[in-house]
Amino acid sequence: MRFFRLALAYLTLLPVSQLAAESVPIRAKSGMVVCQSEIASEVGVQILRQGGTAIDAAVATAFTMAVTHPAAGNIGGGGFIIYRPSTGVAAAYDFREMAPDKSDAEMWLVDGKYDRKLHHHSHLAVGVPGTVAGLHLAWTEQGRLPWDQLLTSAIHLADKGFVVSDGLARSLKSALPRMRPYPASIAQFTKDGQAYEAGDLLRQPDLADTLRRIAQLGPAGFYEGKTAELIAAEMRVHNGIITKADLKQYVALRRTPVKGTYRQYQILSMPPPSSGGVALIQMLNLLEGFDLTKSGFGSAQTLHLCAESMKRAFADRARYLGDPEANPDIPLTKLLSKSYATDLRESIEMNQAAVSSPNSFQWATESEETTHISVVDQDRNAVALTYTLEYPYGSAIVVPGAGFLLNNEMGDFNPAPGLTTESGLIGTAPNLAAPRKRMLSSMTPTIVTKNDQLAMVTGSPGGRTIINTVLQTILNVVDHAMNAQEAVDAPRIHHQWLPDTLNHERLFSPDTLQLLRQKGHVLRTRDPQGAAQVIVLDPKENLLEGGTDRRVPDGAAIGY
Ligand code: DON
Repeated sequence: MRFFRLALAYLTLLPVSQLAAESVPIRAKSGMVVCQSEIASEVGVQILRQGGTAIDAAVATAFTMAVTHPAAGNIGGGGFIIYRPSTGVAAAYDFREMAPDKSDAEMWLVDGKYDRKLHHHSHLAVGVPGTVAGLHLAWTEQGRLPWDQLLTSAIHLADKGFVVSDGLARSLKSALPRMRPYPASIAQFTKDGQAYEAGDLLRQPDLADTLRRIAQLGPAGFYEGKTAELIAAEMRVHNGIITKADLKQYVALRRTPVKGTYRQYQILSMPPPSSGGVALIQMLNLLEGFDLTKSGFGSAQTLHLCAESMKRAFADRARYLGDPEANPDIPLTKLLSKSYATDLRESIEMNQAAVSSPNSFQWATESEETTHISVVDQDRNAVALTYTLEYPYGSAIVVPGAGFLLNNEMGDFNPAPGLTTESGLIGTAPNLAAPRKRMLSSMTPTIVTKNDQLAMVTGSPGGRTIINTVLQTILNVVDHAMNAQEAVDAPRIHHQWLPDTLNHERLFSPDTLQLLRQKGHVLRTRDPQGAAQVIVLDPKENLLEGGTDRRVPDGAAIGY
């Protein structure tokens, strides 16, 4: 059956979807949506067929994922969009969560001692959500279809329910212990306390009502009125600090994407408060000095050079990056420049791994649940959207009566001033909590062009691994001539400077790993890494190729 559909796809370019066989990408002529929920990809493609722009489709897909992929799809979290129109000016939309007005850098200290649970698993972990404002801002500037039309499918799926997949059943089951303290979470995501099983129908009527308010009123349906009342009430009962005033004053921002070049390609990615775009361009600048096509995919030499570039970019990330409004002195021009990369490259030794020094900067811990949507429409407008609740299911707190999960993004702020420990906490100033500040992110929604034509849309979840996953999808296409699905499937590595460990997925050869050890790398198997969702434009045939990440369940590339 699958073979038949694929064969049909090649022959007729009729609508096709889902899991590509082996590493053959889905191909389509007119438009494509790739994300971690097949139902949501289908909704996005329907919007494209109805004449929607790439932004319309991305917005509809994102609202649908808030229903069908509750671990990371959200209205209670935040994220970023990189938008590149086929003609005109590219934009970055920043809808990162903001710290409430009552935040301060010591808010997770109890009797002077850092309380990790408070930082990551409490109402004090919740940032003021940005998703609804961000999707609305992007739609206001780049959308074509009516706003409420973009929420119709999400409302229907929340109201009438959808069939729980095996992947979702497993994921919900693993989240149950974190949800137990919150009756509204248990009511929404279990059958009277029993875990959902594959094949069950999951209905979310409170969420449907909240989505209806957003459809009718726009952001005011979330940041004001009943939804805002419900959030504020939940905060008051549980010593949270988000108020109705915090919600009302939330703003999503349009920013200028960071830009770089890599060989014949141009890169557009997310500026601070994400570290993603800056670190990605820094790594590409470093790697441009080496012939990776010659050293080859997966060779010890290529992996060594990638790891050394990762260390250096991640060290600078720790030193310099945070909310740009709170840190006006970030040396962006320097970090993105070819000349800085040339200087830094001189410190890379071809046969010896550099030792990351543990007594300078350390990393805050970040978790592993976020999600990415790539969209291209008929006019070749492109959207890379990554959004998150931070942990899987965020804070695990469903707002009673409102049916959606709150993020725990405040956990991305450094824990406390000066608290830098061997175990990986950092207490440096650029990313300490303060009122209305945005916490540092690693999300890296990215669009690649060549000769001013769209070439690739990419992004992934995975905390700090995001930046390196996105890097490798680009290298796989540009240097190793892979198609979209191959670029997603190929095994990945991750180094983040500290700890001084080179993580790798399983499928590298033992002799390659041995050669890396001989160069001084400390290796650790970490599998899987990320969930990239990629679209590549084949310029010869003007066809879109989609690659969804089979490391995670339920994703689909769907085109028409
Ligand atoms: O913004 C960030 O970088 C993190 N909050 C993202 C968390 C994440 O990617 C977890 N994903 N799988």
